Amino acid sequence: MDIELRHIHKRFGPVHANNDINLTFLGGRIYGVLGENGAGKSTLMKILSGYQPADSGSILLDGTEVDYRNPQIALHYGVGMLQQDPLDVPAFTVLENFIFGAIGARGYRGHAAARLLREVCSRFGFELDPDTPIASLSIGGRQQLEIARLLALGVKTLILDEPTTGISAEQKTILFNALKSLAKNDGLSVLLVSHKLEDVIALCDEVAVLRAGKLVGTRALPATPSELVALMFGQILEPAQRIAVNLDNAAEAIRFENVTLRSKRLQVKDFNLNVRAGEVIGLAGLDGSGQELFLRACVGLAKPAVGHIHFEGRDMTGASFRQFLAAGAAFSAAGRLEEGLIAGLTLTEHTALMTEHHPVIDWGRARQRTINRIQTYHVRGTPESQIEQLSGGNQQRMLMALMPESAVLLALEQPTRGLDVDSARWIWQQLMVRRDIGAAIVFSSPDLDEIVTYSDRILVFYAGRVTEIPDARQATIDQLGRLIGGHNEEVPR
Ligand SMILES: Nc1ncnc2c1ncn2[C@@H]1O[C@H](COP(=O)(O)OP(=O)(O)OP(=O)(O)O)[C@@H](O)[C@H]1O
Ligand SMILES: [Mg+2]
Repeated sequence: MDIELRHIHKRFGPVHANNDINLTFLGGRIYGVLGENGAGKSTLMKILSGYQPADSGSILLDGTEVDYRNPQIALHYGVGMLQQDPLDVPAFTVLENFIFGAIGARGYRGHAAARLLREVCSRFGFELDPDTPIASLSIGGRQQLEIARLLALGVKTLILDEPTTGISAEQKTILFNALKSLAKNDGLSVLLVSHKLEDVIALCDEVAVLRAGKLVGTRALPATPSELVALMFGQILEPAQRIAVNLDNAAEAIRFENVTLRSKRLQVKDFNLNVRAGEVIGLAGLDGSGQELFLRACVGLAKPAVGHIHFEGRDMTGASFRQFLAAGAAFSAAGRLEEGLIAGLTLTEHTALMTEHHPVIDWGRARQRTINRIQTYHVRGTPESQIEQLSGGNQQRMLMALMPESAVLLALEQPTRGLDVDSARWIWQQLMVRRDIGAAIVFSSPDLDEIVTYSDRILVFYAGRVTEIPDARQATIDQLGRLIGGHNEEVPR
């Protein structure tokens, strides 16, 4: 199916999020949609898939103008979108969501649905257990479910807004090959919105680049990452520098002593770790390998089944999240709209929640603090913006801006999720400032490059087993890739 967008405009108050966009997407081709945070990518994709109307302009499908008022009608025409933050029902299981998402469309239920889900999963290399509740699935797993659902519904245009890469290199190859063959043989077109330029280069035939609401250009691939960066930012960025720090005399931030962690699906068994002030520990692993559990254990959100946790020398085994916060720990979750931020609240209200501890809130002070944070973290939004009105990347900046300034330990789950290359580097500059004044940082990332670049030490998780790489500078991305896939014959020392 060929899609033509003509003169699309969309404003949100003073923000001209889409400013006269003209684009053609041909059936059977795979497009990358690129641009810095807040460029207008999600806005355009939501218009194309019926999640929100354009102010003006038209959409033509195979030459015929369509006017869809909601996503169901768009789906009926064959346009389906994976949202940046998945729209599933947390109380349901994988299979229930799969069925629920098909109601009103080409219905399938019961055994037929279970069979279809299995078929789609094996074809695309997804590992989804039909009976797992959504609430215990990672963001990556939830996105896979959404893709499975849309493909089972037979979409002709698949829009993927920032699929995360919490999947293994092999899984990614399977998924990409499956999408390419669907494009080639069945005429599926794919629009991939992504900040992961390697993915864009591996998958796409062509890219369209947005900047500040306008289309700045399209180009056919192949292209190098720096050519794409230059298109996006109008300049070539210097690679980030890694500075080794001397931690010999650093105080202990958190120490794990013979700790075993258990969740319903996983056990991280009997490990020891001492994280020092000013140290950065990167956690690598496929989604659900234990790194999420470990991060939560650093702040009392998961309690050890066995063993002891010491925080700045104090035994805090079994302490609550509140107690960890009070002691100087901070946490940010990957599922920013589920766990990190509260949809419906403004930025000022978020600041007030974090900083105002009296029964009486000083709104003037909270607003001023918000203004300061907006400035320091370059958040595109106002103190009165509701958090869900911000672009994905700007929500992430706000989440980082809300981290307490004097934290002893920052436990960060995918701290640069959804950030463009420039913003991700910039967030790390901010984090390094905090490290320099003595904060310990423990972070997870699906991006091995990020782990190798910023960590002093690396912990690799595979099915709950932890392998430590004592000097991250000795690690290569290839080695890490093999380790997270469970091949631990060679551990760099
Ligand atoms: N519902 C809304 N209300 C108000 N402003 C909005 C709304 N949705 C988007 N915006 C604004 O429109 C602009 C474009 O946002 P959009 O989400 O399309 O960016 P994006 O390119 O997807 O960015 P990112 O890479 O961060 O996801 C931003 O300035 C954003 O704050
Ligand atoms: Mg977006």
